[in-house]
Amino acid sequence: MVRVRNYCSISKPAIWIWLISALTFYLLFLMANRNSREWSISNAEQRSRLYEKMEKDLEDHGATFLKQGETTQSLSLSDLFILKDGVVTPVLKPANPPVRANVLYLNPEYSVPIADAVRSIFSPHFDKAIWFQNSSLYHFSMFHGSHHITAVPASESEIEAEANAVRAVSESICPLKITLDRVVLTSTGVLVGCWQVDSGSDPVTIRQKLRNALPHAPAKQLYDAVMLHTSFARLLGHPSSWPEEANKVSVLQFLYELVSRLNNKIHGTKAIVGELWYVEEYDILALALDGRMKVRKFQLGCSKV
Ligand SMILES: *[C@@H]1O[C@H](CO)[C@@H](O)[C@H](O)[C@H]1NC(C)=O
Repeated sequence: MVRVRNYCSISKPAIWIWLISALTFYLLFLMANRNSREWSISNAEQRSRLYEKMEKDLEDHGATFLKQGETTQSLSLSDLFILKDGVVTPVLKPANPPVRANVLYLNPEYSVPIADAVRSIFSPHFDKAIWFQNSSLYHFSMFHGSHHITAVPASESEIEAEANAVRAVSESICPLKITLDRVVLTSTGVLVGCWQVDSGSDPVTIRQKLRNALPHAPAKQLYDAVMLHTSFARLLGHPSSWPEEANKVSVLQFLYELVSRLNNKIHGTKAIVGELWYVEEYDILALALDGRMKVRKFQLGCSKV
């Protein structure tokens, strides 16, 4: 009896508190549910969306390299190259402290045919105003231990320890079977190959492992965690010659045409990536500009492909 009476005598404020708690709980539940649905978008799907956005960049921002562009690493392109005896030559600037980059390496078995295709399509129309990435150094930037925006100086022994930690990571990574999803030209004039992962370790996983292995690395990294890209070339100015039938179109339309020709030729290219490099770049963008660097090469250790 006593109990019943107690039960019936729950005060009005208590009911309100109960109701508000229930409502709050319900709202939190809805939010959590929605987040988990966001999370469940696959890395592959996120990559596709990112690449679509990159493809639209030129449309949205115009070809800024025809005026004066900045690269993705926020360095002015015209600062990067000079004409020396009629040859485009990179202007190498010492990186102080050296940049420490971890990159996946694309073997020349795959990079040379791509480089040949890029050259055959762009060379005839860009006399001097183009820089081709060295095909022995095609790479996918993964994670920086130190970069030019946030410098993380390290002693020789700290660098040795970092390299060992990266070697340990490489042993747990499975070779990546990848497919060239598309080639895009950014508004800054970089011709970029964007890749999808068919099997093997996902770039998101690789970057997470590297972050765990390199706790002092800059919190803000240079690239989206899902991204798997390699630079093929940098356009530095206007095309020098146009085919006759292109005379009536704008520069931008002509650039789209060239990119589309390249896409027709090489999209769908398949490759297997089996090496992770720990690179000390003594010059800014050394990997991209054939600068001075020290490379430690690690084979990916997991045998599952
Ligand atoms: C391309 O890179 C390789 C390997 O680092 C190097 O031996 C070669 O000299 C480079 N080529 C050019 C044109 O710089």
